[in-house]
Amino acid sequence: MAMNHVIEDWADQYVWIVGASTGIGAATARLLLDKGAHVALSARRQQALDDLAAADAQAQPRTLAVALDVTSHASVVRARDEILASWPRIDLVLLVAGGYNEMRADSFDLAQANQLIDLNLRGVFNCLAPVLPMLIRQGGGGIGIVSSVAGYSGLPKALVYGPTKAALINLAESLYFDLHPKGIGVYLINPGFVDTPLTKGNDFPMPGLMQPADAARELVRGVERGAFHIHFPRKFTNTLRFARLLPYRMYFWLIAKVTRL
Ligand SMILES: NC(=O)c1ccc[n+]([C@@H]2O[C@H](COP(=O)([O-])OP(=O)(O)OC[C@H]3O[C@@H](n4cnc5c(N)ncnc54)[C@H](OP(=O)(O)O)[C@@H]3O)[C@@H](O)[C@H]2O)c1
Repeated sequence: MAMNHVIEDWADQYVWIVGASTGIGAATARLLLDKGAHVALSARRQQALDDLAAADAQAQPRTLAVALDVTSHASVVRARDEILASWPRIDLVLLVAGGYNEMRADSFDLAQANQLIDLNLRGVFNCLAPVLPMLIRQGGGGIGIVSSVAGYSGLPKALVYGPTKAALINLAESLYFDLHPKGIGVYLINPGFVDTPLTKGNDFPMPGLMQPADAARELVRGVERGAFHIHFPRKFTNTLRFARLLPYRMYFWLIAKVTRL
């Protein structure tokens, strides 16, 4: 049985994607526009959003491009109000915006750590604050949070990224208890490696690396079938889900051996 409501037709769905200028968010926006949804695109770079909105003339009337910075609560509130000035409601909010920095114990940088926490974790709370009352008032719709397989358990080089994503997994689980009984969907989205600007600098092997369009297809299919935990590519994500069940001695040995990090 589905854990969230099933979506069979996107034609009457109003979707707000936060973090839509590149990568997974942009690919998801393109796919949902192809499927007939109304899509509001948000990120910091207005020009990138405008270009995306203008890319498909047929879809343009169903597209809004509203810049925001998730590290500023006021900016997210402004964006929500701007969208609601044009739309009757927002059915689905996808919180995709995020960043990555590589950090290990011997290169720990507090300023960079706080910056990533502000973006990946506080940024999500800055979005929840104006979105949750709206969804609860509507008594329907859904919210999807993009975390990462790096949130399942500790990984090398992810000293700050990993904890921010682990927190988002916990957050989505906690939200489900509160929102599901109110008829509001909650989606926890955990991608493996996807070929986007975020992973461009990675100098280690990325097993199961996906293209953004394929990641978007998995994400949207998961939402359509009402899944709570949407993760892809399955072979890679299931391996990591299994690994975290191992005793720590084995887990550390396995991850060090496989990543050579
Ligand atoms: N790529 C992967 O392998 C992978 C794997 C697991 C999870 N993820 C997660 O997937 C999400 C999307 O990542 P991606 O790979 O698609 O990376 P990406 O192409 O770099 O996209 C990141 C998006 O976030 C937006 N953004 C960054 N800072 C922002 C801010 N302060 N306010 C508003 N928007 C902001 C960016 O737009 P602007 O720069 O225009 O603001 C961009 O649209 C992230 O949460 C990431 O952690 C990615």
